[in-house]
Amino acid sequence: MRKAALQMGVIVLVASVPLTAVALLIDWFPEPASTAADDVDLLYDVLLIISVPIFVLVMTVVIYTVVRFRARPGDEGDGQPIHGNVRLEIVWVAIPTVLVTAISAYAWVVLDNQEDERPDTMQVNVRAGQFAWRFEYLERGGPPVRSNELYLPKGRPVEFSLRSVDVIHSFWVPEFRIKQDVVPGIVTKTQTIPDREGDYNVVCAELCGLGHSTMRQQVHVIGRERFAGWIDSRRRVLAAATPEPGREIFTSYGCAGCHTLQDAGSAADTGPSLDGLAEVYDKRNPRLSLRDYIRQSTVDPQALVVRGFRPDGMPANYGEQLSRAEIDTLTEYLARTSGSSSGRETAGLRPASGPR
Ligand code: CUA
Repeated sequence: MRKAALQMGVIVLVASVPLTAVALLIDWFPEPASTAADDVDLLYDVLLIISVPIFVLVMTVVIYTVVRFRARPGDEGDGQPIHGNVRLEIVWVAIPTVLVTAISAYAWVVLDNQEDERPDTMQVNVRAGQFAWRFEYLERGGPPVRSNELYLPKGRPVEFSLRSVDVIHSFWVPEFRIKQDVVPGIVTKTQTIPDREGDYNVVCAELCGLGHSTMRQQVHVIGRERFAGWIDSRRRVLAAATPEPGREIFTSYGCAGCHTLQDAGSAADTGPSLDGLAEVYDKRNPRLSLRDYIRQSTVDPQALVVRGFRPDGMPANYGEQLSRAEIDTLTEYLARTSGSSSGRETAGLRPASGPR
């Protein structure tokens, strides 16, 4: 028994060193772009240094035992039953307890540093909805600024307040090393200080529906002066633009995450294109008016499914998410804008339950 323990000990020592080294050499994360990134990466390395040898230890004991103590021809029964070894039990409870407590304390310190209150923190509201992000800036000197793309000034702390309009999403910017769940009904927060200019991805890291993989947008980290200029120009654009409540609904409830519509600046293709809809809709169902067709497709998307698209592709709860007035506004908007451009022919329609 002693010899077996010694052999396993040697295997663990010899295998742990190169495997830990390999784990540390792998680039697990993209190039860092926030002040917290170094701390997070160091924490991750420490976790590797602790967990790789433990993994090697467990695998060594398992594999060694299976090979060395396997049943051989002529072996009968299970051998002597073993139970009750107080010293061993204390050891295998105490070591994991100490390790996990120490790791938790260290991780807590790293997170606490990242969440320090800082002067001059910029507030950004993030609204997540299937399958798009919307950003709203509450900056001094003017009305709130809304945008589908996230612009951040380099070097300035920013706090994100995250809200969901439907299901659970997760706000993840790998380069900033931040990830925070976005949960319907509560406001979650996360913060960062971007410290490198560049374009990175805002990625949804929680499976949230068919378009989950398309739920990514850009974050642009730019110089402070350029950022101030961008805020000003957004304000001018928003002030000059005639308010278009229909477009607002279309983009803020995530329609733009799946459907192409030139007027709303979207080019997604998870769902059928809405450009040119007015030209093709009556081939799909001559008995409905364009407006009734749009309304039905919004609240009951499975009633008529465009060929080539999945019947369950669109959330079926817009009838509850949107008020009656919002549905009217959206219908009017789509009826007005969807006929204007040279839409692609999207082929015929079939009842969801009918023959293919
Ligand atoms: Cu939102 Cu995945």
